Amino acid sequence: MLQPNERTTFNTLLAALAEAFALEGRDGGNLAATALRAAMGQPYRRAHATSDPDPLLESVCALREALPVAQLVLACRPFIDWAHWEGEGLAADVSARLYTAELVGPDGHIAAEGVRVGLLVSDAVTDYPVSSHSGEETHYVIAGVAEWTVGDMPYAPQAPGALIHHPAWVLHGRRTGSEPFLGAWRWSGDLDLSSFSVA
Ligand SMILES: [Fe+2]
Repeated sequence: MLQPNERTTFNTLLAALAEAFALEGRDGGNLAATALRAAMGQPYRRAHATSDPDPLLESVCALREALPVAQLVLACRPFIDWAHWEGEGLAADVSARLYTAELVGPDGHIAAEGVRVGLLVSDAVTDYPVSSHSGEETHYVIAGVAEWTVGDMPYAPQAPGALIHHPAWVLHGRRTGSEPFLGAWRWSGDLDLSSFSVA
């Protein structure tokens, strides 16, 4: 259970992410926005935390270009449960540098069907290899400039505020340089996380 003031802070984060994904203009973005707004009135539950992105989270939120929503993520830190992102073909040393938390979805702090919305933190100098999965996905860059590739497009930097879309099964990758990265992500369609594999 969250204290009322904690729940207010958490709901403010959900509302900010809803606003961002609604800007996508895609069915999946609208689905995520609707689920995030509905989640504001639904019970909160703890997840199984297996990792802790601090003090990395603090340093990424302090980056000069970080969006204001980064401060909401920091404020929610005590009640967001993180795990290392693992998947088929992902090297253990890369996985150790990636932290994910599902906020809304089948495994999230707020239960929902048909959509997953969460946060992702990546350490600096981390090459998240080209990979694919069943879920149709959009990432929202909150802090840190990372380089992304989608399909045949070469790696290109994406700054805070960018929305990067990955259709289902389309190969995509992300590498960080000197800066760590914080983003939000949403999945729709086939939500099977085990469909992930490195190309
Ligand atoms: Fe992805």
